[in-house]
Amino acid sequence: MADASESLTVTDNRTGQTYELPIEEGAIRASALRLIKLNDEDPGLLSYDPGYIATASCRSAITFIDGERGILRYRGYPIEELAEHSSFLEVAYLLVSGELPNDQELALWVDEIKHHTLVHENIRKFVDGFHHDAHPMGILISTVAALSTFYPDAKDIDDAAKRRLQIVRMTAKSATLAAFAFRHAMGFPYVYPDNDLSYTGNFLSMMFKMAELKLKPEPALERALDVLFMLHADHEQNCSTSAMRQVGSSRPDPYSAAAAAVAALYGPLHGGANEQVLRMLTEIARPENVAGYVARAKEGKRRLMGFGHRVYRSYDPRGRVARQVADDVFKVTGINPLLETALELERVALSDDYFLSRQLYPNVDFYTGMIYQAMGFPVDMFPVLFAIGRMPGWLAQWEENLLDEEQKINRPRQLWVGHGIRHYVPMGHRAPYAGTRLALQAASAAPPRPGR
Ligand code: SDX
Repeated sequence: MADASESLTVTDNRTGQTYELPIEEGAIRASALRLIKLNDEDPGLLSYDPGYIATASCRSAITFIDGERGILRYRGYPIEELAEHSSFLEVAYLLVSGELPNDQELALWVDEIKHHTLVHENIRKFVDGFHHDAHPMGILISTVAALSTFYPDAKDIDDAAKRRLQIVRMTAKSATLAAFAFRHAMGFPYVYPDNDLSYTGNFLSMMFKMAELKLKPEPALERALDVLFMLHADHEQNCSTSAMRQVGSSRPDPYSAAAAAVAALYGPLHGGANEQVLRMLTEIARPENVAGYVARAKEGKRRLMGFGHRVYRSYDPRGRVARQVADDVFKVTGINPLLETALELERVALSDDYFLSRQLYPNVDFYTGMIYQAMGFPVDMFPVLFAIGRMPGWLAQWEENLLDEEQKINRPRQLWVGHGIRHYVPMGHRAPYAGTRLALQAASAAPPRPGR
């Protein structure tokens, strides 16, 4: 129990009663509110927090973010240092195991991952069943879920060795599934893993190899993509990680939980934002159109995709690194013509009080789309690239949740705003037909706000 100074004294003005709520690690336990009752029949108070603005769902030691100071650390290591010195697979090891590997551990880990890049041939038939214009995120959600049917041992989630095997399999195969989705959409033959290459080099080969015997990735682009995978590897309790933990809390296999995480990432407010940034920049087209677009955003008619963040109230540190990666990539590919428009949009937004007062700064997605496009990825593959990077983070968070003895199946409550009891009405006694009632309800509902 915390000492008296680390507590809240709460007076319930309805009853005059006071309560001492301990403050632990900057939080009070929401369950303590259940003690605040009107009478013995009263179940007690709930905390109401739509969007979980002020709710900590777990205790975690994986990723630390300080939104005010723009700090991001994986297991204590600053993202800037990892981006400069590390590699995606080394960061994946760090997130999953908690420590940087020594040279032998890294070599074993890389070998394990390479050993699991192939997928069952039936997955190919599954991918072939999608329509030619199926969005690759829809294919990825489905194929990640389908993996659970190939590995029944994945249900044995209390066995540490089996958990690690699934973590290795999923980390390795996510790149293969992503590349297969692209190749199917393009009508290209599938390219199988080339384990002579690095993880990221192999992904580029599976994506872009055509008639040549062996694709030799451009080193600067291979390094750039590896850095971008690192930037996306984890990010505390974001929407998709929360989905991974939520679904994981009912104890299915990790592939099923990961499919839910990929689905959450797909949304335009989350991992789908990088695709939307490119579509926004393409719509703006030229720097001279920026002012008009920004004006519409200030009227609430548009969102500046790639701007804003629930946690960062200053620059997203990943955005700074991505900006540097953009320069490195454009030296090889030539500058993306949209860069000038992006820079003007950033300049205008960061000098306008509407955005500054709402602390809307460029986030990780603002530059990545231009980089991916310059590297030859189609726009609808952008969130898929995000998912490849985030996979080790999701898996690390899933396992941490599983091993946290305080955690149990997630089952939040609600504030009831519906009807009181009503009794069944025989057909002949119901309101006369006046158009489909559902359409009437939809028509009467307030128009949705963009991006909410
Ligand atoms: C990611 O959580 C994570 O960590 C996510 C992520 C990760 O690594 O996992 O960092 C990855 O998802 C980055 C964010 C990518 N999304 C976008 O770039 C989409 C555009 N941004 C937003 O829609 C928005 O900023 C969010 C979703 C990122 C955050 O939304 P919040 O915290 O719920 O804020 P809000 O929607 O309540 O907005 C607060 C105000 C509103 O104005 P008012 O109602 O107060 O007048 O700011 C406005 C919003 O209208 N606003 C924007 C805006 N974002 C918020 N106005 C214009 N453009 C925007 N981008």
